[in-house]
Amino acid sequence: MVEKQVKSILFVCLGNICRSPLAEGVFRAVLAERGLDGEFTIDSAGTGGWHAGSAPDPRSIAVAAQHGIDIAAQQARKVVPADFERFDLILAMDRSNADDLRALAPQQAQDRVELFLGHVTDRPQDVPDPYYGGEDGFLVVYRMIREASEALADRISEPASEPLSGHASSTM
Ligand code: 4NP
Repeated sequence: MVEKQVKSILFVCLGNICRSPLAEGVFRAVLAERGLDGEFTIDSAGTGGWHAGSAPDPRSIAVAAQHGIDIAAQQARKVVPADFERFDLILAMDRSNADDLRALAPQQAQDRVELFLGHVTDRPQDVPDPYYGGEDGFLVVYRMIREASEALADRISEPASEPLSGHASSTM
């Protein structure tokens, strides 16, 4: 499918302190590894605002740091209506987040809301909420996010369409 080229991505979970800050940090790192940082607008937010202004959960900071990624300076915020205009792609961590986003999104932005793990599986699959679990849950979440981030980077760095052969931009 040829789609509008994606230039801005918002990662969304419930609290914006565990999963989506990690997704933002890991995806930024994947872009940097590919020399693509600076070409995209990346952010994260929560459908709930209870933690607005807070740093990520210490367990998310720790699992990111174990993989050489620093997310400590991020600050949680709640999704706002302008996000549905500002971002080409709004990636929900789980189906409940996607339902909440679709309830907020205007008609013309409904198709911008997708499940993040839709990049690695055809089945509707969630990044599980690790908030009430232990440290090992954060490593599971990290691995899921890493795999989906690589697949997402593949998708958005593909040219929207191949140039026609025989029509190269030669000046001869
Ligand atoms: P997140 O995890 O949605 O991945 O940031 C949660 C963080 C906080 C709460 C729930 C989930 N909470 O209920 O405060």
